[in-house]
Amino acid sequence: MPSIVKDMSLADEGKRQVEWALSFMPVFQVLYKEYSDSDELSGVRVAACLHVTKETAVFIRLLHSMGAEVSLTASNPLSTQDSVAAYLASIGINVFAWRGETDVEYNEMLNNALDIQPHVVIDDGGDLHALIHSKRSDVLPSVIGGTEETTTGVIRLKAMERKGVLKYPVIAVNDTPTKRLFDNKYGTGQSALDGLMRATSVLIAGKYVVVAGYGHVGKGVALRARGLGAKVIVTEVDPVRAIEAHLDGFEVMRMEKAVEIGDIFITCTGMKDVISKEHLKKIKDGAILANAGHFNVEIDVAGLRELAVDVKRVREYVEEFRFEDGRRVYLVGEGRLVNLVAGEGHPPDIMMNSFANQFFSLLYLVKNKGKLDSRVYDVPKEVDELVARYTLKGWNIEIDELSPEQKKYRESWML
Ligand code: ADE
Repeated sequence: MPSIVKDMSLADEGKRQVEWALSFMPVFQVLYKEYSDSDELSGVRVAACLHVTKETAVFIRLLHSMGAEVSLTASNPLSTQDSVAAYLASIGINVFAWRGETDVEYNEMLNNALDIQPHVVIDDGGDLHALIHSKRSDVLPSVIGGTEETTTGVIRLKAMERKGVLKYPVIAVNDTPTKRLFDNKYGTGQSALDGLMRATSVLIAGKYVVVAGYGHVGKGVALRARGLGAKVIVTEVDPVRAIEAHLDGFEVMRMEKAVEIGDIFITCTGMKDVISKEHLKKIKDGAILANAGHFNVEIDVAGLRELAVDVKRVREYVEEFRFEDGRRVYLVGEGRLVNLVAGEGHPPDIMMNSFANQFFSLLYLVKNKGKLDSRVYDVPKEVDELVARYTLKGWNIEIDELSPEQKKYRESWML
């Protein structure tokens, strides 16, 4: 099926964006040198559901240059960079994505991407895996295995595994240290605040920023908000993480109290109704609400609409909700991923680690075709270490090595 993108005349601009990203992804510069002339993926069909960004394009173009037939669909209706989609379509990748898809169109495009009958399924959020396991079981016979990019997707896949319904092996790219520790924390830490600032243009310094959730994402967002001079409040449901946030120097309190204090809210939990209608009834006038979690369920947007007597768009990515008593609440990017809706997502330097893990995991699945069980696998430890070493080399950072005596010391138990 031919690609469906917004405007093919944007392809040249897309190419410039992709080359710019590649210039900050030294690991991919090496991978392009080592692999792009190989035909290691010749005959391999790959369906990918990823945010269609310049960084994703660096990864997908490499697979294409190695002979893979690739179809690409967006993993969020509002995250596609249209110039990048056009460029990828112009070089022969089957792209089904544009910014501003409706939910119905989004699902149609997921279906289109599956029509190539993929061998490997790359997903970010689990929508493609879920579709294959529900309405599109017709593609199952061709699937060797899949990968998953994000926490929410891995949670969904592990639930499928527990219920015994998972039908092919999936590698949890999200969970490997060189992805999770850098992308989730430093990637979102920077990109969520970048998206929020681009969307609103407000000062962060001196404001109360409420960060919901203190996992890797929340930690990154809290750290960077503090760096910009915010007074950061953390809300949590996990007692251990709450202590961690407290010892990291943040105020920890319940959301019902935080809504009366916060100026800016960023949800980072993966859970629904983190800012509920009840919370919204008490929220401070002028509060800005944004979400950094995968799905648009963390802020009760339906509840917000019910409480509002007037709703208007006040900036490209900001809607104002006015309540009966005159209070106003500002919602950024419809409560969808603020970093990708209002910004460009994580920086290329960060995505290089995530996509290098995706790349080696894909090769591992292809090499081990038929040998793996239908369960969720960790990224092989050697792959994680390889990615770390490539990254250090790319950044010109040298580290020490253990001497033979030190290795012996580490193994000994009689000291
Ligand atoms: N997720 C977060 N940032 C991203 C980016 N720049 N590209 C692809 N996926 C992302």
